[in-house]
Amino acid sequence: MNTRTEQYARCIDASKRMRWEIEQDLIRGRVLDADRKFLPDGLSCIQDLDFLTDDDKRLLSQIQGRTYANVFGLVERFICAKVIELSHDYLLNDQVALEGLVRFSDEELKHQELFRRIEQMAAAALPAGYCFAPEPNAVAEAVLSKSTWAVLALTCHIELFTQLHYKQSIAPDMQMSPLFKDVFLYHWREESQHAIMDEIEWRREDARLCEAERDQAVDDLIDLVAAVDNIVCAQADSDADYFCRNTAQTCSATEQACIRATLQKAYRWQFIVSGVQHPRFSRVLAELTCDSQLNRIQQALKPILAAFDSVQQAA
Ligand SMILES: [Fe+2]
Ligand SMILES: [Fe+2]
Repeated sequence: MNTRTEQYARCIDASKRMRWEIEQDLIRGRVLDADRKFLPDGLSCIQDLDFLTDDDKRLLSQIQGRTYANVFGLVERFICAKVIELSHDYLLNDQVALEGLVRFSDEELKHQELFRRIEQMAAAALPAGYCFAPEPNAVAEAVLSKSTWAVLALTCHIELFTQLHYKQSIAPDMQMSPLFKDVFLYHWREESQHAIMDEIEWRREDARLCEAERDQAVDDLIDLVAAVDNIVCAQADSDADYFCRNTAQTCSATEQACIRATLQKAYRWQFIVSGVQHPRFSRVLAELTCDSQLNRIQQALKPILAAFDSVQQAA
């Protein structure tokens, strides 16, 4: 077996050991508890909002948790489609790699169903009027129009930050809803293999490209990150409005602006900054790009990273 096949074989092995079913292993008849947080403070940044009561902090973490789950449901639509497309390269040759990617896509289909279930449960636990605007098929169509190299880079970044969020912020938090916590424990268990397969496929795609194609792919990645930023910033506005309509206290215009800014920074941290700063992602990206390409990416990220720095200073 060659190295790639061996790596895929290990992913299949882990995937078989980790395999779980939504209802019988994870949900187990439970509902979301409205008296608990849905997202940990390490992801939600609500510690910045001192003027909120504990009840309002909890509501804001629940709104963020609902959006967090919906964003995963959103991105898994294009991830699954790309993985199925890549699996075609192995149809009549490496059957181990084929199985690895088939399991990967099957797991992402299951995760999308899980996140639809969570959205239904969150709708039952929270006040009416929440809106998650991005439509998965339209977003997937736009993402998949970009080069495979860029889609795999974005996917690798997502599947790495998923693990980081669970280990650093979700696992140590003792005040989260136990069901919400389990959702991301079970999700994390399968995402660990996905991140390995993303990297294998990203490197395989990279080896096929000439320098001009890689240059175009870098531009595509910059476009994709900008698109993610637009989506999460628009959702931050929508979630801030929804929160202000449903909070028990009346927030002043300054407080409302502060809530909006905190949500925007929290979502940028969750979906962009924590991934691009992930050591493994930075290492592979630096390996696959030349200095000027890496510099272009860093320049494009600058305004987003600067916004995050101010969160850190305020915290
Ligand atoms: Fe997933
Ligand atoms: Fe995944």
